[in-house]
Amino acid sequence: MPSPEVVVCQDADEIARRAADRFVSAAEAAAVERGRFAVALSGGSTPEKLHRMLASPEYTGKVAWEQVFVFFGDERIVPHDDPDSNYGMAKRTLLDHLPALPPGNVVPVSTDLAAAEDCASSYETALRDAFHEHNGVPAFDLVLLGLGDDGHTASLFPGRPALSVTDRLVVASPPGVLPPPVDRVTLTFPVLNAARAVLFLVAGEKKAPALREVLSGRASVETHPAAGVRPASGTLTFLVDRAAHGG
Ligand code: 6PG
Repeated sequence: MPSPEVVVCQDADEIARRAADRFVSAAEAAAVERGRFAVALSGGSTPEKLHRMLASPEYTGKVAWEQVFVFFGDERIVPHDDPDSNYGMAKRTLLDHLPALPPGNVVPVSTDLAAAEDCASSYETALRDAFHEHNGVPAFDLVLLGLGDDGHTASLFPGRPALSVTDRLVVASPPGVLPPPVDRVTLTFPVLNAARAVLFLVAGEKKAPALREVLSGRASVETHPAAGVRPASGTLTFLVDRAAHGG
């Protein structure tokens, strides 16, 4: 695949604005071409600025929310009202502020099942049903991702079995080294790499070493899982701030 597009932004605010503009463009194109826009949101804290921008009066009118379907790239196995819940963060910062988004268009991970593997299986079924894709790999129109200081993305952590899974859409993922120390579920590389567009949002100098490795093209997926995101035919873009890009 071609080298990723890297856009160096002044700061996290510019990352959010550029990401919001790309979200709007992708949503418009998908609605025209397919009548729906399927997006996987990222967890962590970086996406919050993007969410608040999309929920602002400047942006809410730019998206046909009734044609948007919201999924999650990964989720912590905690209650949805837990401060560590990725769904809870998206709800607070975006979903609760979109009256035009039908509630049925949001597909959170069920985190109240017996074990993380049950949550993963349940979400895989929900994905297959939502995409009407019961054999192949569903193609998201847009997957938003972050980058951990340790090179992880979604909940694909260094050295973990989930990195080599090719026959599942969603798997359980034990806690990584970064907080919070809770079980998770994550989309697998086949799903991430089937996306029509993948957009990394990376801010802060702590991310600089991992980002440099991933962008170098030399990083191993085992040590820097984000390097395993190589969309087969989709676009790959990194929106990074100067601090993460090394000044
Ligand atoms: C998660 C996220 C995770 C996140 C990175 C970056 O559930 O933790 O999906 O992959 O994107 O850890 O997190 P920050 O944006 O908070 O730095």
